[in-house]
Amino acid sequence: MLDNKTSTTRETSTAKDPYSFNGETIATAAPKIGDQAETRKFYIESYGCQMNFSDSEIVASILHDASYTSTSDFLKADLILINTCSIREKAEETVRKRLKTFKQVKKANPGALVGVLGCMAERLKAQFLEEEKLVDIVVGPDAYRDLPRLIATAEDGDKGINVFLSREETYADISPVRLDSNGVTAFISIMRGCDNMCSFCVVPFTRGRERSRDPYSIVAEANELSGSGYREVTLLGQNVDSYKWQHPEEKDIVNFAKLLAMVAKINPQLRVRFSTSHPKDITDEVLHTIAKYPNICNYIHLPVQSGSSRVLEIMNRTYDSAWYKSKVQRIYEIIPDCAISSDIIAGFCTETEDEHQETLKMLRYANYSMSYMFMYSERPGTLAAKRYDDDVPEGVKNGD
Ligand code: SAH
Ligand code: SF4
Ligand code: F3S
Repeated sequence: MLDNKTSTTRETSTAKDPYSFNGETIATAAPKIGDQAETRKFYIESYGCQMNFSDSEIVASILHDASYTSTSDFLKADLILINTCSIREKAEETVRKRLKTFKQVKKANPGALVGVLGCMAERLKAQFLEEEKLVDIVVGPDAYRDLPRLIATAEDGDKGINVFLSREETYADISPVRLDSNGVTAFISIMRGCDNMCSFCVVPFTRGRERSRDPYSIVAEANELSGSGYREVTLLGQNVDSYKWQHPEEKDIVNFAKLLAMVAKINPQLRVRFSTSHPKDITDEVLHTIAKYPNICNYIHLPVQSGSSRVLEIMNRTYDSAWYKSKVQRIYEIIPDCAISSDIIAGFCTETEDEHQETLKMLRYANYSMSYMFMYSERPGTLAAKRYDDDVPEGVKNGD
């Protein structure tokens, strides 16, 4: 995913504050969820990949239905939410630092609730409540519909936690509330979870099993965005090329190529992007579909992770260096002016200098228009953490 490296924060758009804020009053007289008498305010801050930002828009929709309005000022919020990322240790450290700031807010307004959402909530579960005393609510990525109940629980003085991972939840019926939108470009989640088991990656543990969203709800969402003036949509998933949906009563299977075409046909003026593609799953059919529709952008994010076949093998990426190169060639054959970008991990367990040099060669070979490079960060519970030593010194990983 494109944005997960920077841990940038994005805050909600400013909403007008209909009532003046008084910590004491809110602490004692905060209305229960569903009580329409007074509108309460939530503040949400998101970290990690685009899917997390997209999820925050689903959360905003659920909270709006529970008569909350958004605020961009956490000092004015009755509910402070932080949608977290676990991909690297640094991402988790950033969240912990941020929680320290929210501690100050709670001192001033003890009635405010603090909720942790997303991948870190899923990874740490109840442990989070022990480690971070100020946190009232912990919600995993598949449990956002339960937020109103969890908030009510926290208001009653208990801790609210739901980290259940679903095999079905896609939030297909929820219309996201576009946060911080420029009115031009929007994300649409088309699937959730990941069934790959790259040995370095925490995502399968935090996001659960892969499942695809009903294509008709995706087309309806894109159609609505197009109708309200948006010019670009990005279809999101950890591995969009394995998108697969079958109507319970029909034989036809909608794969990613078909879904792309369905979205592209909505409006030739609507630009269509997608992220992320796993090299093993991107098919010729997808490439031909991109070539066929001028409004599908000629751009593929195709993370290689390493240029060394030995390292790719222990990363469990299921392709080797030669196979990846042939995929790149295929892309340039079918879409000659295609831009390709990549993700790279430096200093994976046991990686040698020569193997790192092979990665640099791959950068030149693929002629990437851009790539993100990360220092390997060991994640608890992953195959790599169990099996291999994180033995490349930090100074080597970061090129010092
Ligand atoms: N599903 C996407 C990637 C999601 S995570 C895919 O397979 O391409 C985004 C990127 O974070 C990955 O491509 C990888 O380069 C990086 N990443 C994941 N786990 C990491 C770890 N433990 N240490 C460093 N970088 C990691
Ligand atoms: Fe992680 Fe691999 Fe799944 Fe991407 S495909 S989310 S790197 S396990
Ligand atoms: Fe995304 Fe970070 Fe979770 S990259 S899926 S928010 S671990």
